[in-house]
Amino acid sequence: MKKLGIDVTLVDPDASEEEIEKAFKPNTKAVFGETIANPALVVLDIEKFARLAHKHGVPLIVDNTFATPINCRPFEWGADIVTHSTTKYMDGHAMAVGGCIVDSGNFDWEAHADKFPGLTTPDDSYHGIIYTERFGKGAYITKATAQLMRDLGSIQSPQNAFLLNVGLETLHLRMPRHCENALKVAEYLKSREDVDFVNYPGLPGDKYYELAQKYMPDGTCGVISFGLKGGRQAAAEFMDKLKLAAIVTHVADARTSVLHPASHTHRQLNDEQLVEAGVNPALIRLSVGIENADDIIEDIRQALEN
Ligand SMILES: Cc1ncc(COP(=O)(O)O)c(C=O)c1O
Repeated sequence: MKKLGIDVTLVDPDASEEEIEKAFKPNTKAVFGETIANPALVVLDIEKFARLAHKHGVPLIVDNTFATPINCRPFEWGADIVTHSTTKYMDGHAMAVGGCIVDSGNFDWEAHADKFPGLTTPDDSYHGIIYTERFGKGAYITKATAQLMRDLGSIQSPQNAFLLNVGLETLHLRMPRHCENALKVAEYLKSREDVDFVNYPGLPGDKYYELAQKYMPDGTCGVISFGLKGGRQAAAEFMDKLKLAAIVTHVADARTSVLHPASHTHRQLNDEQLVEAGVNPALIRLSVGIENADDIIEDIRQALEN
């Protein structure tokens, strides 16, 4: 983000409203959070962040990738803009990389015009139009698609859009199965002596269970993160022994996938930096697929016991 000229102030999603308020700066333009954070599985209190963002005249943007619109509709809780990595559940089969932005049209850019000149003053590169004047509630998404997509080129190819659409047609069938399987797997992991911790917001007793019940009463997602008592070394050994689950960076797929962030995606960080980034060095991210839950559990059992 720094290379794009954007500074980021990180806040603990569980911090009090007073503490979060202190993080707002005069040049803060937006608040961004994930409905369910990857890979720590922290659930965002959307209403709390929407209230604070609006108090400071900026929109709340929510990455709803893990919950999907099947399980959570952030606009109903005050979010202004929703983003998705469609590469994940929406596609569901690792066929095409993609992303989308959904604008509620609810944020009043003109009420905070000094903060958003890109929307409220003439765009010389587009015939001098003022997006808020010309497009009203559609100002932000029009600028995003007309100007920014033109300049940055982030456009999905027709074939990839076709593949994504095939995936979207079964999203409502896959999500309940992901959640049902993940709950069974989380319960199994929780019951084992050699498992140190299990994070799954759909599991009663989880730190985020109540928040998840509020925002996602029908289910959360298929992703679980957990750690073994043997720590980092045991995590690597466990993963090598898995037969059904694929070791891949990809997540939220119809097929069960597994990743050890400390040795893959976050390999450039030392243990101290990992903890700072909210990633326990022992943490294993298990993305539970839609296979038979008994097969997934048997794969985990044999990997832990062999
Ligand atoms: C929650 C979430 N948002 C966004 C992304 C970025 O996705 P993409 O690689 O499709 O740009 C990821 C990728 O892991 C993710 O998990």
